[in-house]
Amino acid sequence: MNRCNFYGGKKYEGFGHYYSETGNTEKLARAIYDYIDFDKDLKPVQDVDNPAGYDIIFYGFPVHAHSVPSKAVDLIKQLPEGQNVAFFSTHGSLRGGQLPKQAFEHAISLATKAKILGHFGSRGQVNQKVIEALLKSPEHKAWGEEAQSALGHPDEHDLADAKTFAAEIIAKARR
Ligand SMILES: Cc1cc2nc3c(=O)[nH]c(=O)nc-3n(C[C@H](O)[C@H](O)[C@H](O)COP(=O)(O)O)c2cc1C
Repeated sequence: MNRCNFYGGKKYEGFGHYYSETGNTEKLARAIYDYIDFDKDLKPVQDVDNPAGYDIIFYGFPVHAHSVPSKAVDLIKQLPEGQNVAFFSTHGSLRGGQLPKQAFEHAISLATKAKILGHFGSRGQVNQKVIEALLKSPEHKAWGEEAQSALGHPDEHDLADAKTFAAEIIAKARR
């Protein structure tokens, strides 16, 4: 735990959960974590035993096959009744496109009891081996070409946007 802050007489704590294979989602998680100035904790989802007891949870995952990766699914299902949650994600495809939107819709549908405050997506560079495999497949070639342009993301602008997102979510949670 870091600094402690009180809001409306209530101890306010934030918790970041993230799942990341090549570090892109972890970069967003750390940017959000650095921004938060009240009690906080940051853990990869595989190290989380119990997601209860926090005023807000920022939950991050990379988009896999237009959806939430299987290793990040179980914990989303366990988010407690009324839990304030904001999702964030990295993805190779363009920001604001249909594919990442689909993944957020899936995450929201899994968190049946939680209170979803919002979501934020950023591009994340795609493993070169994955791109090569995509480019070889006629079915996936177009998406493989799109994925190539994610090189270098998340960059400093993406991380700044993630902090702006965190500010908006915290303001919403405190209303
Ligand atoms: C197996 C696999 C499947 C992926 N599927 C998608 C996808 O459907 N849509 C997309 O935009 N990006 C996809 N990506 C790209 C990742 O979402 C992106 O590189 C992400 O930033 C990786 O985050 P991480 O470093 O936190 O694991 C995929 C990557 C992998 C390895």
